Amino acid sequence: MRTLAITGAQWGDEGKGKITDYLAQDADTIVRFQGGNNAGHTIQIGEDVFKLHLLPSGILRAGKAAVIGNGVVIDVEELLEEMSAVEASGRGLEGLRISDRAHVILNYHRKLDGAEELYRGDRSVGTTRRGIGPCYQDKAARTGFRVCDLLEEDTLREKAPAVLRMKKDILEVMGDSCDCTEDMLVERLLGWGKALEPYICDSSVLVNESIDRGDRVLFEGAQGVMLDIDHGTYPYVTSSNTMAGAICSGAGVGPNRIGDVLGCLKAYTTRVGEGPMPTELHGELGEYIMKKGGEFGTTTGRGRRCGWLDLVIAKHAVRIGGITSFAVTKLDVLNGMETVKVCTHYELDGERIDHFPACLSRLSRLEPVYVELPGWEDWGGSAESVAAAGYDGLPSELKNYVSFIEKETGVPAGMISIGKRRSETIDRRGSWWA
Ligand code: GDP
Ligand code: IMO
Ligand code: MG
Repeated sequence: MRTLAITGAQWGDEGKGKITDYLAQDADTIVRFQGGNNAGHTIQIGEDVFKLHLLPSGILRAGKAAVIGNGVVIDVEELLEEMSAVEASGRGLEGLRISDRAHVILNYHRKLDGAEELYRGDRSVGTTRRGIGPCYQDKAARTGFRVCDLLEEDTLREKAPAVLRMKKDILEVMGDSCDCTEDMLVERLLGWGKALEPYICDSSVLVNESIDRGDRVLFEGAQGVMLDIDHGTYPYVTSSNTMAGAICSGAGVGPNRIGDVLGCLKAYTTRVGEGPMPTELHGELGEYIMKKGGEFGTTTGRGRRCGWLDLVIAKHAVRIGGITSFAVTKLDVLNGMETVKVCTHYELDGERIDHFPACLSRLSRLEPVYVELPGWEDWGGSAESVAAAGYDGLPSELKNYVSFIEKETGVPAGMISIGKRRSETIDRRGSWWA
């Protein structure tokens, strides 16, 4: 069995897109299994920059199957735009497959997302307002539209009246409105069905057959463990499970079919939106990292909050997500600092805390405890030449930083990323496919 999962070990934006694209070169099938276009995965190929929200990052490599699994929520307009952008870059979409069981985001989901945020007032989540939460709500409430419905006018005509009535009533109560008629809704959904029909399939069958054949299958996570609806900083989370366990439900594969789990771990911490972040740096240093790291949301353009690396979180991610190796990314952003700090545990009311607390009130009172490590100089040459020289050629203090992460978490750093491009990557393991 040759499968590999890539997940975020923090609050998202760890560089999953870049790492997925790098590993996709040797993969046959790349699968998204949760989230929607709240995700923003940036991939730089030479001077071309791709920002993918729904398409699996493997779409940029020729000859691969790129699968949108049933656990993903799909904004079809957004997906069609992304598909056009990929085609405009001279790449094909032959490999694209879309699960017939995935749910579809509608305009009323986006409206509800905005309305719910307003209702929350100063406890708003800071969502991407892409309708992700309301779409997953409908999935759980059994009032969602699935991709397979888009091909069946009778089903749509049967379902539409009750759903639309419900949404109109709710939106009206919440101070918004929805002027969509049943006909408009059905026509729109049928139009989407037509556009997507060539790509629609039972993706669980496809992925499992791919695994059976001995293909190399890469699962591409979105968001990160701290945004996981169960294990993240609830309620400041997204509306799906984000860790590797979600592959089972979101791609329709058994737990015994998930091989290694590669956790993307940014060399420091960032978070977009509201909610607790124990190692957040307020002031100049946080701003410096934000600017140097280009920490602006891929999806919403919002500045990301920045802070030191938090190993309590990394260990949380390892335990919950079964991470077997880290891809430590954006180490280059810390170049040129005299010292770098790493949080090893917290203190709360004089007590040592080693595990991330569930409770917001406890979280607000945590004091991170840091170890200060020596920083490393900026490298003179290009990141590409530094990467080409391999791990041993990196500054000793940087290697010391990586070793510290490995020692504290018990997980090897199999991949090191020191730039945006494929060539700015050090693969310490070589073969990721058992
Ligand atoms: P994702 O959501 O986890 O895929 O990450 P994003 O794409 O939202 O954010 C990561 C950003 O950092 C993107 O702009 C990447 O091009 C960039 N990036 C990824 N790895 C590195 C790295 O090692 N160094 C630097 N400087 N940038 C990186
Ligand atoms: P990638 O895959 C960073 C955050 C939002 C908000 C919270 C809930 O690029 O790492 P939602 O719209 O999902 O209901 O918003 O989750 N969020 C992300 N933050 N990276 C992401 O994805 C995110 N997807 C959602 O900012 O705080
Ligand atoms: Mg992102």
